[in-house]
Amino acid sequence: MSIFPKNFLWGGAVAANQCEGAYQEDGKGLSVQDVLPRGIRGSRTKLPTEENLKREAIDFYHRYPQDIKMFAEMGFKVFRTSIAWSRIFPKGDEEQPNEAGLEFYDRVFEECRKYGIEPLVTLSHYETPLYLAETYNGWTDRRMIGFYERYVRTVFKRYRGKVKYWLTFNEINSLLHAPFMSGGIANMQGLTEQDLYQAAHHELVASALATKIGHEMMPDAMIGCMILSMPTYPLTPSPDDVIAAMDAEHRNYFYGDVHVRGKYPGYMKRYFREHGIQIQFAPEDEEILKNTVDFVSFSYYMSVCATSDPEKQKKGLGNLLGGVPNPTLKASDWGWQIDPKGLCYVLNMFYDRYQKPLFIVENGLGAVDVLVEDENGNKTVEDDYRIQYLKDHLIQVGEAIQDGVEIMGYTSWGCIDVVSASTAELKKRYGYIYVDRNDDGTGTMERYKKKSFYWYQKVIESNGEVLYSEEDINLSE
Ligand code: BG6
Repeated sequence: MSIFPKNFLWGGAVAANQCEGAYQEDGKGLSVQDVLPRGIRGSRTKLPTEENLKREAIDFYHRYPQDIKMFAEMGFKVFRTSIAWSRIFPKGDEEQPNEAGLEFYDRVFEECRKYGIEPLVTLSHYETPLYLAETYNGWTDRRMIGFYERYVRTVFKRYRGKVKYWLTFNEINSLLHAPFMSGGIANMQGLTEQDLYQAAHHELVASALATKIGHEMMPDAMIGCMILSMPTYPLTPSPDDVIAAMDAEHRNYFYGDVHVRGKYPGYMKRYFREHGIQIQFAPEDEEILKNTVDFVSFSYYMSVCATSDPEKQKKGLGNLLGGVPNPTLKASDWGWQIDPKGLCYVLNMFYDRYQKPLFIVENGLGAVDVLVEDENGNKTVEDDYRIQYLKDHLIQVGEAIQDGVEIMGYTSWGCIDVVSASTAELKKRYGYIYVDRNDDGTGTMERYKKKSFYWYQKVIESNGEVLYSEEDINLSE
């Protein structure tokens, strides 16, 4: 008997801007990603430039039938992707949607359904229409709620019956850490913490509104929030470090708490009071926020530490939020510390707090892969390091399941190689499927199955049982 529930949703995840390419095809407008050629770590350009790999990305826009077929071959039950908002509303504030953009996702979702794969759709994954960012300064402006509402009504109406699982905003807690990419805030001049939290408030209201509308329009749908999870451990056992870790956690829990509990938590009200921040609530906001989510989804790549000692505040490398490196952990080639047990921990923490089903919608290892030929002359990647990483994490998911945590599914990040969000590289690969495309723009775009492709296929086929078996694919030491 497998530890994983019978209906566990195994699959993989991508985002439109990192895989589709076709950045101006069929009426698509520009998004913030089109002017971030070096990802969030680099600076933005005024106009889209040739060097931006996301212009073509991995050409999922034209190759999706082949890619989804390969996902089906691995046995995917679910495929997480996002809708590029600027394909549907090219500028963002139009009255009427772009039909060609809507048709593209009709085709993608139908292709998934053909193989019995459930689409899991993120409504906004770091791809705010650029026009909204430049004209309204993104989510600092309350009018964004109305534009987002029109967009979600349009896609809910169009895809109800085809899509059951929805996420409102990718990693909604990253807005303060990446205001342009996450919040479409193009002009940071003179912006204060007050303005950023006000923008976050607008997103929280928009998210609750989308949940309300989604429930009204699609009674069978399940709508979730999406949080960047990064458990924060105290750097030492000192009570001051424990409190520093708790404070850091609170800055993140805030977003999940509002989504699940439907109101602002006391610790955040205190923070606002003590920092002179006054969030402007419109008269209807309190009521809207009461529309709480059906499940909580999150990304998990790493944990961090917190300290009260100003001398040790140095930030390590890693996913957006950052934190003090943990001296006991090793890191990936990109400096993201590897902590499988942190996944069991965060699952338990979220479940203890929310008592809602959880969905791990991102997890994985970004690594340099080398394409080689196997004994039959087929090109592949011997990515034992990735298998080890995923296996270690999935075993921890199993641990949490045994603790009674209700987990809907697991979609590993970048199930096919995509352009990285933080650095816009292609050489930082996460996939089970290798895409022949390089950072200098060369490559045939051909797809090749890595060793992890066959491994994940077995994991899904056995509903996770192979993770515990001696016969697991031989991993190198
Ligand atoms: C998450 C994002 O933060 O991390 C993804 O939701 C992103 O869009 C993923 O790709 C991995 O980060 P990176 O920078 O390695 O692509």
